[in-house]
Amino acid sequence: KTEIVSVDNLSTKELGYTQAVAFLNAGETVAFPTETVYGLGAVATNEKAVSKIFGAKGRPQDNPLIVHIAEKEELNAFTANIPKIAQVCMDAFWPGPLTIILPLKPNSLAKNVTAGLDSVGVRMPEHPVALELLRRLKQPVAAPSANRSGKPSPTKAEHVLHDLSGKIPFIVDGGATGIGLESTVLDCTSKIPTILRPGGVTKEMLEKVIGPVNESKSTDNAEAPRAPGMKYAHYAPNAPVYLIDASIQAVQDAVKSIHSNHEKVALIASEQFDGIEVDFFFSLGKENQLEDAAHLLYEALRSCDETEADLVLVPIFSKQGVGTAIMNRLEKAANGNWYKI
Ligand code: TXA
Ligand code: MG
Repeated sequence: KTEIVSVDNLSTKELGYTQAVAFLNAGETVAFPTETVYGLGAVATNEKAVSKIFGAKGRPQDNPLIVHIAEKEELNAFTANIPKIAQVCMDAFWPGPLTIILPLKPNSLAKNVTAGLDSVGVRMPEHPVALELLRRLKQPVAAPSANRSGKPSPTKAEHVLHDLSGKIPFIVDGGATGIGLESTVLDCTSKIPTILRPGGVTKEMLEKVIGPVNESKSTDNAEAPRAPGMKYAHYAPNAPVYLIDASIQAVQDAVKSIHSNHEKVALIASEQFDGIEVDFFFSLGKENQLEDAAHLLYEALRSCDETEADLVLVPIFSKQGVGTAIMNRLEKAANGNWYKI
């Protein structure tokens, strides 16, 4: 019931785009690749089409979607009073992995896209397939990540198929995504711009261009989460995930203790941890290569569900550059749990 067509293959490319555009225009959902993760799209002005996204994902209705555009001119139809700082960010980082929260023009998009908020998250993706699709469609597309709610976001078309087979009509297969983690979400409606979700565009990169930027601490319960999606459990495999110090000794001791309980352990870590005798090992690439780790993380988390691991260990990364985004996702996957012997 779910059709999947490759646009990397010359013989099916044209068909892939034509069918995707036809499904979207007919009020259906279509999954497509972006430079971050695969998205599940619907025309952002079509409330019925957008409701199918929530249905297929099992997504809570109070979690707003990101609107994707191919040209800045498209903003006029659904945003108003764009702050200067947001303009500067668009010029510097679009197309790219930066979602900007802007004031919503009333009665412009389907209400369920913004979950009733008076703001809207927008981004211009940097993936040639996403851009080609948006250009052909000539309409803004609301698209969250194309996973079942709570699961890691899909970085390959086969992950989308695994989660949503039979629930959506069409997947545009454009190969593996690049960055592998979702876009940075920057709220530009607050006085000082605030990062609601860390991603490929880092705080350091933003501050070079627009000056001081706040970070909303996802662990800070004093303040209600401002990106509504950040309050839900996320990215978690079936077995519980535990964070652990990034030391060979600490991991070896943990594995010994786990095995003495007759439990099986999966280790998700950079290659310097390969060689520790675990039951399942999923590599996050070479030591200190944060970009590789980001690219491989979600597939590694998904792979744990194909094993008999009783628990999953992940040595932590330094919160520098994209390491901030990696640790944000890992802390959510682990639900704050650290491995203690
Ligand atoms: O990289 C990405 O951003 C991917 C690709 C497909 O573009 N999309 C994605 O969407 O990750 P999603 O729905 O999984 O995450 C959207 C996040 C959620 O945490 C949501 O709460 C927040 O953005 N968000 C969306 N609109 C918002 C708004 N108006 N105000 C505050 N947060 C918003
Ligand atoms: Mg998501």
